[in-house]
Amino acid sequence: TGLVVAMDGPSGSGKSSVSRGVARALGLRYLDTGAMYRAMTWWMLQQGVDLADPAAIAARSGEPGIVCATDPDAPAIHVDGVDVGGPIREAEVTGAVSVVAAVPEVRARLVALQREAIGAGGIVVEGRDIGSVVCPDAPVKIYLTASAEARARRRSAELAGTTVEAQQEAMARRDTLDSTRKTDPLSMADGAVELDTTALSLDEVIAEVLRLVKE
Ligand code: C5P
Repeated sequence: TGLVVAMDGPSGSGKSSVSRGVARALGLRYLDTGAMYRAMTWWMLQQGVDLADPAAIAARSGEPGIVCATDPDAPAIHVDGVDVGGPIREAEVTGAVSVVAAVPEVRARLVALQREAIGAGGIVVEGRDIGSVVCPDAPVKIYLTASAEARARRRSAELAGTTVEAQQEAMARRDTLDSTRKTDPLSMADGAVELDTTALSLDEVIAEVLRLVKE
């Protein structure tokens, strides 16, 4: 099948769990584009690139070899052969990723890699710009939202040792950076269906997306 489901939305909206569940239910592949921005950021930090200098980020953005597996039951990401699935979720990367993702050369490189991975389709793709930039022709585009409080609650349940308040603050900072950057800011794509998950369980959201796919 050549189906592409574009799943966009802010952090903590439930994109990853929903996308993997939908991919599993439909026998599709799954691509986490946020993991690719995180992997790029991890590599820049490893290399000691000055993240206050967009030109330095741009100059090195072609170097890391980033490979993302697309099995929804075993999502994995490697940089130059190193498994970075753990480190890319840590606070250091999370705190820096929006700055790296704002650099146009980084976006151009990763969008090209994403389109290559998407290939002929049969995939659920999650991110911030999938329906608007990466796959504007995707037949199904979803924009997941949830209240700031619900999103922070979900994130702090995943991460040990953080309070809901601290999470909410860190997420608000990242959302502001992601939605106000000059290149491809987070926004709802033309033709996207907005789905507010605040009061829904994961299974209810997956069921609703499956219904939209069948329409
Ligand atoms: O989804 P996740 O929280 O892993 O994304 C990490 C960061 O990567 C986002 O905050 C955003 O800065 C960037 N990103 C992006 N475009 C995408 C996916 C993620 O700019 N398609």
